[in-house]
Amino acid sequence: MLTQLVFVAGDVSKGASLFKTRCAQCHTVGSGEPHKVGPNLHGVFGRHTGKAEGYSYTSANVNKGITWDEHTLFEYLGTSSVCLHTSPTPMRVL
Ligand code: HEC
Repeated sequence: MLTQLVFVAGDVSKGASLFKTRCAQCHTVGSGEPHKVGPNLHGVFGRHTGKAEGYSYTSANVNKGITWDEHTLFEYLGTSSVCLHTSPTPMRVL
């Protein structure tokens, strides 16, 4: 499950490789890196939805009106194998 995989305390490398295989095709994380299909996720924790500069979000994302933290993020991404992103089609990331 995502919760366990991404946030295993003290095992950052596991999360990083998960991110690389599951998220990096659409997201960059480095400061100042360009947006891909999805917005750059640098500093996404503590950020309000839909606030990455220069990225055109869907209104669903902008209007979601929450701040990203470990709870909202997991709810957003889904706890099952299907990712609940508000991107054009639900996608399977895990
Ligand atoms: C197939 C492409 C794709 C993959 C794979 C993907 N994303 Fe996304 N992601 C998007 C798109 C597109 C959006 C923008 C959605 C919108 O505007 O409604 C987005 C938005 C987000 C947001 C909201 C950002 C914000 O500033 O509000 C987060 C957080 C996020 N993704 C995390 C992840 C994580 C973590 C993974 C890996 C588990 C992942 N994404 C995998 C395409 C993807």
